Amino acid sequence: MLLGKTIVVTGISSGIGARVGELAAALGADVIGVDVNLPAALLGAFVKGDISSAASIADLAGALPSRFDALCNVAGVSGVSGAVDTLAINFYGLRALSEALAPRLREGGAVVNVASIAGYGWRANLDRAKAFVDAPGFPDIAALLERFAVPDGEGYPLSKELLLLWTMQAAHQPLFRARGVRVNAVSPGPVTTPILEEFRQVFGNPRVDEDIARVGRAGAPADVAPAALFLCSDGARWINGANLPVDGGLEASINASVLGF
Ligand SMILES: NC(=O)c1ccc[n+]([C@@H]2O[C@H](COP(=O)([O-])OP(=O)(O)OC[C@H]3O[C@@H](n4cnc5c(N)ncnc54)[C@H](O)[C@@H]3O)[C@@H](O)[C@H]2O)c1
Repeated sequence: MLLGKTIVVTGISSGIGARVGELAAALGADVIGVDVNLPAALLGAFVKGDISSAASIADLAGALPSRFDALCNVAGVSGVSGAVDTLAINFYGLRALSEALAPRLREGGAVVNVASIAGYGWRANLDRAKAFVDAPGFPDIAALLERFAVPDGEGYPLSKELLLLWTMQAAHQPLFRARGVRVNAVSPGPVTTPILEEFRQVFGNPRVDEDIARVGRAGAPADVAPAALFLCSDGARWINGANLPVDGGLEASINASVLGF
């Protein structure tokens, strides 16, 4: 499915990113992993890099190749480090890296963003999401958080709301669309990786356990990786600006509760 393609995967050193990298290699891709931490096992090429600031992204971009087929934006943090840090990594850094690398993606290439069911509230919080997404580059995140009175503990869901909104926008930005580069998202529900324990600190055990109970079990990285790689593949050539829930039915269940059907 991915034979001969070169795929850059951020967050390769743990959880979902590690499985995306392994599966992409098994499906014939050349994988270039990116992470702030070293991977336990080296799989293909690896570039150590941090997506949390403009300067570190410039360094990272300098170490990545001039041509490749897909960018899988998997790296992310849980929110335990505070809202400023979380927005810098999960949204502004992800977007800055994608924009920096867009000209290197081959015609017909793909960007896949790992968002989350936690971003479900983007429609309900649309004005706020628009203001954060409209701010270019790395804005003054603390000032934006203060303007919208966002509590420190809500950085994670906010970061994923912004990512879902931007995924739709980016699909139509000339930077991507003019060269046939598709931009899509997958939104996992709770997945058993190191970040899940941190979610328990941020959101509390009852919330995490209720989400798991709604669908019968937590996901595994191997449940998410095939969906992300499908969106990288030519089989998804007519899918653009979409968000694919990969959550065992959690979003459907929440829709039923929220919309009352
Ligand atoms: N596990 C879940 O329950 C779940 C649910 C929904 C969405 N997600 C999303 O999936 C993605 C992957 O999460 P995971 O579950 O594999 O977690 P994880 O903690 O296992 O992996 C995250 C990886 O991102 C890397 N990373 C963190 N900050 C970075 C930075 N500044 N620069 C470069 N790399 C950085 C980490 O080193 C780590 O290897 C995240 O975006 C997360 O928000 C996870």
